[in-house]
Amino acid sequence: MHRRTFLKTLAAGLNGLIGLAVVIPGIRFLLDPLRRASRDRGFIRVASLTSLSAGRPLRVTVLADRWDAYIHHPPGPIGNVWLLRADGDERDPKIRCLHVICPHLGCAIDYAADRSTFNCPCHASEFDPAGRRRFGPSPRDMDELECRITEPDDHGERWVEVKYQEFQTGVPEKRSTA
Ligand code: FES
Repeated sequence: MHRRTFLKTLAAGLNGLIGLAVVIPGIRFLLDPLRRASRDRGFIRVASLTSLSAGRPLRVTVLADRWDAYIHHPPGPIGNVWLLRADGDERDPKIRCLHVICPHLGCAIDYAADRSTFNCPCHASEFDPAGRRRFGPSPRDMDELECRITEPDDHGERWVEVKYQEFQTGVPEKRSTA
């Protein structure tokens, strides 16, 4: 190979490498919000176990980090859930977590303690104490979220943690929007 041809090839190769070094981080930067938006936040602590009583649903706000495009916001409210504690063994308590958002069109579901029912104020869907649809336009039962109870911390306190997600409204089956 002539010296000139060799130098030209070498220069083209180096230019290509420099181009890639600039383009790849740029693409990763542009895609970052999408990656963050779809990322799993994992379990989020929402309440102490002692704050729950059997037969008395507790509404709690879920707090977590949020991203708005490229801007990171400190922990703030990302949603609300109902926590339910079943009667039973104190050493092995059973809890469930139901989404506050109505599966019909997304209003916030209330709990009527005098009738032990969940009710949606917008179009009168009613759910039983376990979140099962009784009547009304809701196309399905209340949406359930994964939750767990931690081991006791240094003060002997156990905590309820929820894997928060959002669900599509207006469709018969439960579909995640994540
Ligand atoms: Fe709940 Fe319509 S939004 S019944």
